[in-house]
Amino acid sequence: MQDSFSRVIDYLRISITDKCNLRCIYCMPADGVTPARHSDILRYEEIIRVAAAAARLGVRKIRLTGGEPLVRKNVAFLISSLRKIVGIEDISLTTNGILLGQHAKTLADAGLDRVNISVDSLRPQRYREITRGGDLDTVLAGIQAAEHAGLRPLKINMVPMRGMNEDEILDFARITINTERHVRFIECMPAGSVNFWEPGKYMTTDEIRGIIETLGPLSPVKVRTNGPSKYFRLPGARGVIGFISALTHHYCEDCNRLRLTADGMLRPCLFSETEIDIRSAIRTGAPEEEIERLLKLAIAVKPQGHMLGRLSSSSGAPRISPHAVKRPMSRIGG
Ligand code: 5AD
Ligand code: SF4
Repeated sequence: MQDSFSRVIDYLRISITDKCNLRCIYCMPADGVTPARHSDILRYEEIIRVAAAAARLGVRKIRLTGGEPLVRKNVAFLISSLRKIVGIEDISLTTNGILLGQHAKTLADAGLDRVNISVDSLRPQRYREITRGGDLDTVLAGIQAAEHAGLRPLKINMVPMRGMNEDEILDFARITINTERHVRFIECMPAGSVNFWEPGKYMTTDEIRGIIETLGPLSPVKVRTNGPSKYFRLPGARGVIGFISALTHHYCEDCNRLRLTADGMLRPCLFSETEIDIRSAIRTGAPEEEIERLLKLAIAVKPQGHMLGRLSSSSGAPRISPHAVKRPMSRIGG
C-alpha cells in the first residue's frame, strides 16, 4: 500500500499501554503522566482486528511499544494472535528490559521475533538517575534472557545527551566489537518531557559519529531493517552501529510506518498531531470495510515530512522547538 508520496507502508507500530515502570528524564515528568482511562485503552481483540485489517492492506511488520509494553498482562497472548494473521511476517517489541528476564522465553515461544531494548547508561547509579529509579542489573539480566530465548539480533537503543551520558558513547559502541548486538544511537527528540529538551543537551548524529570514529572508521553496512536507522561497522566488529537521526538527516522519505496509539488513534506521523479515531469505529460496530477505510485515510494523509530541524541557525545546529510533540511519547509509542 502506497501513500501520497509513493512510500510503501508495510509497518505498523502498536502502543499497547501508555503506562511505564520507569520515568526516563527525556520521556516523562518526575511524577509521570496521567494514564488514559482503562476503558479508553484498546482491548487485545480490538488491536487484533486493526492489525488484521492492516495486514489485508499490506502491512507485513508489527512492533509493539508502550509506555512499557511488558507492564500489560499477557502480551504473549497478543503476540500469538498477531502471529496467526495472514500476511504478518515480523513481530518485534520495544522495551526497557526491566521485565524481560521474566518474560523473554514466553514471548519468544509465542512467536516474537526480536526486541529493542532502551539503555541509556551502563553505570548503575547513572542509569538509576536517567530512568528515575531503574535497576541496571535487572535490565542486563533481561538482555541475556532475550538472547538466550533466541530474540536476535538484539538491538540496544541509546539516546546520547550532552553532560549526561555522552562519555559513555564509546562504551556503547564497543559492545558491537565482540558481540553481534546492534547498538543504535538515537538523536534526542523534542518530545515527551516538557522543558527537558534543549539545544545544549541535544547531540547530532554527526557529532556522535565523530566520537565513535576515534575507535576506527565506520563502514556502511546493509542491514534489513524496518526503519530509519543507517548502519555501520567498526573494523573487525561482529555487531553493527546504527544511527537514528530524527532531526538532522531527514529520513521521512523512507518512512514506511503507521502508528496505533494505546487509546485507539491512528497516528500517521510521530511529529504531526493529526490522529484518526479508529476506536470509535470499532466500538460502534463498524464493518471491516470501515476499519480499512480509516487505515487508508491515515495513510493518505501521511505528511511528506516534518519540519523540525529544517531551519538551520547560523551555527549550523538545527533550530528546534523544545517541545515539538505535544502528546507524551509514552502515549504514542516512540
Ligand atoms: N528522544 C529520543 N528518543 C526517545 N525515546 C523516548 N523518548 C525519546 C526522545 N524524546 C526512545 C526511547 C526508546 C524508544 C522507544 O524511543 O529511549 O529507545
Ligand atoms: Fe518508560 Fe520508555 Fe519513557 Fe523510559 S522512555 S519512561 S522506559 S516509556
